[in-house]
Amino acid sequence: MDMVDISASIAGQKLQSCLFNAAGAHCVTRGELFDLGKSRAGLILSKSCTLEPRKGNPEPRYKDLPYGSINSMGLPNQGYLFYGKIAKELKQHFSKPYFVSVSGLSFEDNLTIIEHLSQIKEIDALELNLSCPNIPGKPQVGYDFEQTEKLLDAVCKITEMRKKPLGLKLPPYFDFVHFEQMAEIIQRYPVKFVTCVNSIGNALFIDPEEEQVVIKPKGGFGGIGGYYVKPTALANVRKFYELLGNRIQIIGCGGVKTGIDAFEHILAGASAVQIATALVQEGPGCFARIEEELKEFMERKGYEKIEDFRGRLKVMD
Ligand code: DHB
Repeated sequence: MDMVDISASIAGQKLQSCLFNAAGAHCVTRGELFDLGKSRAGLILSKSCTLEPRKGNPEPRYKDLPYGSINSMGLPNQGYLFYGKIAKELKQHFSKPYFVSVSGLSFEDNLTIIEHLSQIKEIDALELNLSCPNIPGKPQVGYDFEQTEKLLDAVCKITEMRKKPLGLKLPPYFDFVHFEQMAEIIQRYPVKFVTCVNSIGNALFIDPEEEQVVIKPKGGFGGIGGYYVKPTALANVRKFYELLGNRIQIIGCGGVKTGIDAFEHILAGASAVQIATALVQEGPGCFARIEEELKEFMERKGYEKIEDFRGRLKVMD
């Protein structure tokens, strides 16, 4: 099994393991980021940051569910300056890439944040979160193709000038026309990777005994993660791999709890795999466990490295 190699390369950065945290999961505080550094995660990704530090929504704002999780965290984070400042310290302690997730609350906030973070050499790439709440009355940016184009236009001018690799965190799409419209926009910009998918938004979980919702914010509505989203996540990885895979890397995210779940994402086309719900439920020890499970499954299949099977999903004729 030690002959099995699950290393990966994302945006020109070498990852000893293709498995790492999704933005939001165990990556808000200094302590959590250090936990990821000490774990088997192949990369450290920060919580999505805003201009100002935020406490987030009232609790309970996250709940474990039978097959995953629901959350409406409300972007609790320490502000973009913190995630910039900690980059040097993380690099002194850990030899793995550090990416910062950016989720400004407005167009202008995103540009301010990216202008600053693009100039920090210890940040290896930025993951711009297009699933972020933006202007009230408008859909999230990733569901508004005009807003997406306008934001990418401005952001890429900055990241190109500063030579900072840029990736996009995408919401799940459910219609082939939407996949094609989004891919058509993305392919016109120097985007290095797309991460598919963020949580399925504004779902509702009900406790029938209590006749009540399970999280406090937004009347109980929240983003769903875990096994509820896995088939949707795989569909998004596969479709964007078909549409963009020869020029842009795909990072899979959604419903990865076991090594075989990670294998399926890679088979669909993912070059690396993020983990959120399982990380929140199990802690950073999940990376070593899932790594061992993935290596064992690859060994059984006769694969030595992830490029041996990445994207090679079979369809029926
Ligand atoms: C939050 C949730 C998300 O799905 C996201 O992309 C950004 C922030 C949150 O509620 O904190």
